[in-house]
Amino acid sequence: MEKKILITGGAGFIGSHVVRLFVNKYPQYHIFNLDKLTYAGNLENLRDIEDKPNYSFIRADIQDNDAIMKLFVLHRFDGVIHLAAESHVDRSISNPLEFVMTNVVGTVNLLNAARFIWKGNFEDKRFYHISTDEVYGSLGSIGLFTEETPYEPHSPYSASKASSDHFVRAYHDTYGLPTVISNCSNNYGAYQFPEKLIPLCINNIRFNLTLPVYGKGENIRDWLWVEDHAAAIDLIFHRAPNGETYNIGGNNEWKNIDLIRLLCRIMDRKLERPSGTSEKLIAFVKDRAGHDLRYAIDSSKLQEQLGWKPSVTFEEGLEKTIDWYLSNPEWLAHVTSGEYQKYYEEQYIKR
Ligand code: NAD
Ligand code: TYD
Repeated sequence: MEKKILITGGAGFIGSHVVRLFVNKYPQYHIFNLDKLTYAGNLENLRDIEDKPNYSFIRADIQDNDAIMKLFVLHRFDGVIHLAAESHVDRSISNPLEFVMTNVVGTVNLLNAARFIWKGNFEDKRFYHISTDEVYGSLGSIGLFTEETPYEPHSPYSASKASSDHFVRAYHDTYGLPTVISNCSNNYGAYQFPEKLIPLCINNIRFNLTLPVYGKGENIRDWLWVEDHAAAIDLIFHRAPNGETYNIGGNNEWKNIDLIRLLCRIMDRKLERPSGTSEKLIAFVKDRAGHDLRYAIDSSKLQEQLGWKPSVTFEEGLEKTIDWYLSNPEWLAHVTSGEYQKYYEEQYIKR
């Protein structure tokens, strides 16, 4: 029997990779991509699958409880993979309330709607909430985040994601909703909006713009190729027991400044510029408020229980990513026009 799967935030960065994977791999599912199309949502990300018979797009706002309830009653989804969120830490510092409205209230609206239509009949149903490692706070120079690490969010973004995770667990524990949660480290890859570090640097190097390094560039992130995250989401959606949590990470820690220098070297080679050209664009700027020092994930539970492991090395993933940005200049031009210009000016030029 055909299953109806709702993917929220499918026009965004990670969501578009998950939608593509599910539409292509599971012709027996009908995939509904629900997205508000904020600045971060872009249907161009899904041009290659938009005409497939098992795909539909729904433009809706998860903050709108009535609209969400009506959609659940109309389509009677069997599964939900919830990625829609405000996702950028710097924006959460300037506008925390929007993060509460989408990330917390929007998640509760989806939980309520799923609970309402499933009415205690949870067989073959699943509500999968996609979260972040940032809910765990910041590590010192040693240790890794495990599924047992206590929550200690510092930014309005991570506080809103932590809150939504708590609601998902509360709906499992209180109403028996068949939920699962995963917390992933920093993703990189094609279709990432260029406000995030890696595509911002690629774009700025191309146009000889400054590379803004927050603080001393000593902060550490654990980078995972987005298609490996999508593969983990597929496995967890189909195989995880209800109520479980999985950490997903690349075992791939980089100090920001080292990563930016690496990007500079690869870009010099690709653009056939003399080596050292792009590094001259590096500028140390005022640090982000509340900037978490280090994130690093222990993903052994996912590896041991479900057999997941990353499919590419960081070098391979970065090559693929840079090649994608260099061969899709029109995508970058579209998403960096208009609203992005205003944001960029406020974030990097007026301050
Ligand atoms: P993104 O910002 O690229 O995309 C978010 C999508 O959600 C966009 O398409 C946007 O239009 C949509 N959206 C926003 N508000 C909405 C609303 N009110 N109603 C409906 N749609 C709305 O984000 P991303 O980087 O793809 O992240 C996706 C999810 O994965 C988020 O939940 C994020 O917290 C989580 N996550 C991201 C990373 C990362 O490195 N990017 C790492 C771990 C977890
Ligand atoms: P980002 O891509 O925003 O992801 P997150 O904050 O969710 O980890 O930032 C990654 C790291 O890069 C983070 O330590 C902040 C830093 N950073 C800069 O130094 N300069 C920038 O212009 C941006 C966007 C981020």
